[in-house]
Amino acid sequence: MDNMEKKIRVGLLGIGGRARHFADLVRQYPKTELAAVCDISEEAMARSVEEKNLHDIPQYTDYMTMLNEESLDVVFVCTPIEYHCEHTIMALEKGVHVVGEVPVAFNIEQAKQMVQAVRKSKAKYFFGENMCFAKHVLIVRQMVLAGLLGELHYAEGEYLHDLKKLAEFTPWRFDTLFGTNGVTYGTHSLGPILSWFDWDRVKKVMCSGSGSRFRYADGRPFGMESTTVMLCKTEKDRLIKIKNDLSSPRPSINQYVLSGTKGAFESRRGIPDSKDYIWIQDIVGSSEQRPRSFHDNSDTWLPLSIFESRYFPQIYKEWVWYAKTYGGHEGADAFMFISVVDSIINNKEPYIDIHRGLDISLPGMMSTISIQNNSEWVDVPDSRLW
Ligand SMILES: NC(=O)c1ccc[n+]([C@@H]2O[C@H](COP(=O)([O-])OP(=O)(O)OC[C@H]3O[C@@H](n4cnc5c(N)ncnc54)[C@H](O)[C@@H]3O)[C@@H](O)[C@H]2O)c1
Repeated sequence: MDNMEKKIRVGLLGIGGRARHFADLVRQYPKTELAAVCDISEEAMARSVEEKNLHDIPQYTDYMTMLNEESLDVVFVCTPIEYHCEHTIMALEKGVHVVGEVPVAFNIEQAKQMVQAVRKSKAKYFFGENMCFAKHVLIVRQMVLAGLLGELHYAEGEYLHDLKKLAEFTPWRFDTLFGTNGVTYGTHSLGPILSWFDWDRVKKVMCSGSGSRFRYADGRPFGMESTTVMLCKTEKDRLIKIKNDLSSPRPSINQYVLSGTKGAFESRRGIPDSKDYIWIQDIVGSSEQRPRSFHDNSDTWLPLSIFESRYFPQIYKEWVWYAKTYGGHEGADAFMFISVVDSIINNKEPYIDIHRGLDISLPGMMSTISIQNNSEWVDVPDSRLW
């Protein structure tokens, strides 16, 4: 079997949790094989082995043993956030590529260690911000690159998801997310926006909150305020608003707004029948040409879906069925996986490398400092200078 035919050997770390969602993607993709799975908890691993029928896959409770014994090409690091750094570095030092879950790291010190490890390693680091690969996000990116929205100047992202129940089964969330004030889980919002801004870097942030309204079982209030809002200024003088609410009981929303000089995008709001809509001046005409009342603009917003055949990237088109069948998060996990495999096989730079990953992750870490200091603006470091 020559190199072209050799399947990429994938290991899944943290199979008891998020990693199990990649098991079918890896097994069903023709260029990859699921080489091994690992979880420190035998119980959690056994549950996933049953759920995903992984009985014939080698199982490990010790990560280093899996790295030593399985000649992996790539490992998905899906452990709790505080361990991303340690587990990523262990793989990179062995020359194994890493797909790292979100956010890149828990704090700046860890982020610095990871940057140094990526520099030293011959292996690649892929930041696993799957929302950057959601179909609507990829279509909008191509439309932006084609100039249809003009010059972009503003965007919003909201991630509203009551994670209190999930945290009872994943107690690390109580410390890492609910224990830390600021926008602690903003990457699903900021990632797509920075991809539309063609990776214009956030240079400073400020953050404020709505007070801490929820409590731990022992009565202490969460460290994180119930809704947190972060404003970001970019190097090219754009403004971004990111809103996080991980504790209010309500249906979840992962929503985006985008404004350009010639167009606008409003994503689905997560409420029944809502869709992604785009408004493009060059197609529908300017508002001056179409006098109408404030609310009567129904025929000018175009459903984003009508642009799919032209602007959904070719590399993913033939895999829509696979993404629908095996990929979580409306196929985003599948398209991310395809991008990773393409980079490994064709030795391309990761679409979201460690620096872009940190461009997405560092603003949230700095928002913690802003909110502790009376919402003052704080600079966001550029990891390329570390
Ligand atoms: N991108 C997404 O859409 C998405 C969705 C959910 C979670 N996540 C991210 O995935 C990561 C995991 O979240 P989760 O919800 O799966 O948490 P989880 O607690 O359900 O799963 C993590 C698993 O890692 C295992 N683990 C911990 N330490 C280990 C070690 N040293 N060696 C081997 N296994 C170890 C745990 O036993 C657990 O089964 C987090 O970084 C989270 O932010 C991302």
